[in-house]
Parts: sequence; C-alpha cells; structure tokens
Amino acid sequence: MMADQAERLRQLSRESRAAGGGLANRTPARVLTITSGKGGVGKSSLVVNLALALANLGQRVLIIDADIGMANVEVIFGCTADYNLSHLLKGSRTLPEVLVTGPRDVRFLSGGSGLRDLREFSKLEVQRVINQIMFYDQQVDYILLDTGAGISSTVLNFVLAADEVLLVTTPEPTALTDAYALIKTFAYAEGQAPIRLVVNRVADQEEGTAVATKLMKVARQFLDLPMEQLGYVLDDTAVGKAIRRQNPLLIQYPDADAARCIEAIAERLLYGRTQQTMPSSGISGFFRKLLQRI
Ligand SMILES: Nc1ncnc2c1ncn2[C@@H]1O[C@H](COP(=O)(O)OP(=O)(O)OP(=O)(O)O)[C@@H](O)[C@H]1O
Ligand SMILES: [Mg+2]
Repeated sequence: MMADQAERLRQLSRESRAAGGGLANRTPARVLTITSGKGGVGKSSLVVNLALALANLGQRVLIIDADIGMANVEVIFGCTADYNLSHLLKGSRTLPEVLVTGPRDVRFLSGGSGLRDLREFSKLEVQRVINQIMFYDQQVDYILLDTGAGISSTVLNFVLAADEVLLVTTPEPTALTDAYALIKTFAYAEGQAPIRLVVNRVADQEEGTAVATKLMKVARQFLDLPMEQLGYVLDDTAVGKAIRRQNPLLIQYPDADAARCIEAIAERLLYGRTQQTMPSSGISGFFRKLLQRI
C-alpha cells in the first residue's frame, strides 16, 4: 500500500519532469540545513534517511556533509568519498570526481574543510566552482546539508544561508537548552529562514508534541521567533543497529518504527501545510549567501 503510493508519486514526478521540457526544473534546489544545539542527537542519521525517504517520493536529493573532519554521513550512508569540496576548490578534481552516487541515486558531496575555508580561495576559484555546481540546481530538488553541532560561526553561517533549517533535538533537558541557545543566536543574527523542529528519540508521539510545543512556546515568548513542528522520530534500537551495519535504516530496516517516522517527515516536507517559506535559492544562492557572510 505504502509502496504503491510511493511508486505513484515517483511516476507523477517523472511525468512532470518530462512534460514541457521539465517544469520541475525551473525551481532551484531547496537547501535545508540540518543542525542541533547539542551533539549526538541524531542529525547525520536523519539526513541520510530523510534523503532516502525523499528519493522514495520521487525527489532528487544531494547530501552535503558540512561537518568538517567527521565522516558521519559516509559511515551511515555506507559510501566513501575519496575527494571533497576542497579538491574541487583547489581545482585538482572535477565535480563528477567529487560527487558520489549512493543508494536510490541520492548524491553525496563531502564538504571537507572547503565550506569553512571558502574565504581562503580567490573569488575566481569560488565562482568557477559555483558555476559547476549551478548545473546541479537543475538536477536536484533537495539539498540536505549536515552540520556539526553547536553554535560555531561556521555552523551559524550554514544555518543563515539555508532556505530552511531543520533543528534536531531530543527530549533531554540538556539538548533542549542547547537548542534554545542556538535559536537565540539565530534570532539575534536576524536569521530569516523558517526553523522546523524534529524531536528525535521520543517514547511516543505525545512526548514529541509536548517537547516541540514547549520549545516553540519559549521561542515565541522570548525571541518572537515562530517555529514549526515538522515531526518526531521514535527512539528505536534499529537506528543504532543500522549504523553499526553501515547500511541506512530505510534500506536495512524499512519497517522499523523510526523509519516510518522519517517517511512521515519527508511527506510533510513535500506536501505539508507550511508556514510562509522563502523561495528556494538553490546551491548557487546558498554559496552566494555564505560568501556574503564570511
Ligand atoms: N531515533 C533514534 N533511536 C535510537 N537511537 C538513535 C536515534 N537517532 C539517533 N540515535 C543514536 O544516536 C547516535 C548519534 O546519531 P548521529 O550520529 O546521527 O547524531 P549527530 O547529531 O549527527 O551527532 P554529531 O553531533 O556528533 O554529528 C547514533 O549512533 C544512534 O545510535
Ligand atoms: Mg553528525
């Protein structure tokens, strides 16, 4: 039943792409930065599996690992990138050489230290890379950017340059305090992108809603910042098991509770009623905004 529906959506999106020279191609890719206050709350696992869930719904997805020095996405995704964005910026590798294609045609680009060190490259070098990557604005519907935890200026820049921010937290009080600290920095920096909450590792739906409601309430009350609850993910041993097998949850245990929750999040991203969102700026827009900030 679920599979039927997914296949129908894939078919629909293939048809709309084929129609009229590809209507779907006119909008640039939507850039989602996935972040958290506290580390280890489940960002990388969410990024990989959300990418697969979106791909199941007919979306073309590119993951960019912007967590410098950590190869989280590679481990969870079960793919290895020999080269990264730094090689591209230095001109020693081409885009096809740094892009890896994983399961379900989800593409993956390792940021290396390239995104952080953008300002060490000349305008010309950066522009050359943007020009190459711009091609992918027509080839990709979603770009999911996995960041490290915390409020470093690098992470904040990724958050501020995104079209949308997915803020991941767990119900733990420490994770919530750190999430609030991050939102506060975002508000003070006059961030414009909508922030959407994902509460990970909850015991049940009620806990997810309660945690999100609490955080949304303080953000509105003290920062005048509207947020939206995008979804919750149940605490599920299958998540850790999949990571240990280096095979994504959605492939290894597609019927797991957590997998179902992530599929629901993907559906809400695609079809859900959302608060007013900014137009997609695409990968080139993301780089442009990033460059303005550094
Ligand atoms: N829904 C879940 N249920 C059970 N365990 C989970 C769930 N989500 C994540 N985990 C566990 O949390 C651990 C950390 O997950 P992950 O690496 O995705 O977090 P992260 O936020 O990317 O961490 P970092 O901040 O270090 O990058 C994983 O090893 C996994 O076992
Ligand atoms: Mg991570």
